[in-house]
Amino acid sequence: MPDLSLLTSKRLLLGLTGGVAAYKAAELARLLVQDGAVVQTVMTESACHFIGAATLQALTGKPVFTDLWQANSSNNMAHINLSREMDAILIAPASADFIAKLANGLADDLLATICLARECPLLIAPAMNRQMWENPATQRNLATLQGDDVKILGPASGEQACGEFGMGRMLEACELAAAMRMIFHSKWLQGKCVLITAGPTFEAIDAVRGITNISSGKMGYALAGAALEAGATVTLVSGPVCLAPPAKAKCIDVVSAKEMLTAVKNEIPHADIFISVAAVADFSVTTTRQQKIKKTDHPLTLELMPNPDILKFVTDLPEAPFCVGFAAETEDLEKNAENKRRKKKLPLIVANQAQDAIGADESALILLDDNGKQYLPSASKINQARLLIKHIAQLYKKQCD
Ligand SMILES: Cc1cc2nc3c(=O)[nH]c(=O)nc-3n(C[C@H](O)[C@H](O)[C@H](O)COP(=O)(O)O)c2cc1C
Repeated sequence: MPDLSLLTSKRLLLGLTGGVAAYKAAELARLLVQDGAVVQTVMTESACHFIGAATLQALTGKPVFTDLWQANSSNNMAHINLSREMDAILIAPASADFIAKLANGLADDLLATICLARECPLLIAPAMNRQMWENPATQRNLATLQGDDVKILGPASGEQACGEFGMGRMLEACELAAAMRMIFHSKWLQGKCVLITAGPTFEAIDAVRGITNISSGKMGYALAGAALEAGATVTLVSGPVCLAPPAKAKCIDVVSAKEMLTAVKNEIPHADIFISVAAVADFSVTTTRQQKIKKTDHPLTLELMPNPDILKFVTDLPEAPFCVGFAAETEDLEKNAENKRRKKKLPLIVANQAQDAIGADESALILLDDNGKQYLPSASKINQARLLIKHIAQLYKKQCD
């Protein structure tokens, strides 16, 4: 099983500057290390007022550098060598002050000097009060940095530590870790538009009840993340789930199969690749009651009618995109999946054992296409999604050649 953790053995320098969001950098360090990265932390003097170096040292397993002169006593020319050894530098949080320093090429502390002497990509995650963010000086500095090829991550808008609302919140640690992974990802799908459906649908019976299933949306969301990493523009049409949408995907929330079909109809003209992961309910009730059905002692019969087949709608289009289907089966997995693939004329279908995969964090997959089958033993859904996106990109390329 190939290790698809994109950060395995990558040498990352995590720089912290003086802002309240420094507390989030501890979680970020943990996520990067968990992904296999070797993380070297450097903190400005102000950052040390917000979070202890000991925390970062414990999380990364490496001593933290904070001082230009102290660092030089243990690592000759650390101000230059530290950046030379790195695959990427991420400053999180990046204070308004540090952004100003970077934009002007100042080198009056260890972190600023390392950034100036770097040869690797530099990413910054600004975090500050909304007025500091909106200040024309800060915006000028950011424009300068963008022109210098520095990647600016965020910020987000929302409630701030000072109690005000607006732009300036640092992105969450998981979003920053995802952005870091993107730097190292092969861009299999650069310039391509990928449309993905995910999650269950919910077919209302009355005002408070409905027919649904136990799909969590995890596989569809993982695929959206992996397609983004691969450079695609992603639209995610999602039924009701409890997952945070991947940053940078266009997300369309729907409830019923009919709503999902409408969203797919609207988006399909832009799609190069359509991946149908959603567990669309096969039936809905003929007549939805507007009020809650009262409890009685009598049997209740619901009349069900078949829902539209969204995947079939797409594959039947005269200029259908490259279509990928999913088959979750409880028995005769391969046989049923291959039958579905032939019936729907799909170049690729992904089969998984319904009782093991639905709702779980890991799944085992079988990829069935014109070349035969490929088994992907059980692994995390994000790892499976990355393998799958690579496979899809290869088949898609072959079809286009
Ligand atoms: C309580 C407190 C919170 C602060 N929060 C922020 C912040 O979120 N963002 C920011 O840019 N500056 C913030 N500052 C100001 C910076 O800490 C200050 O500009 C400092 O000089 C930055 O130093 P550095 O860029 O070398 O880390 C804060 C200051 C204090 C006292």
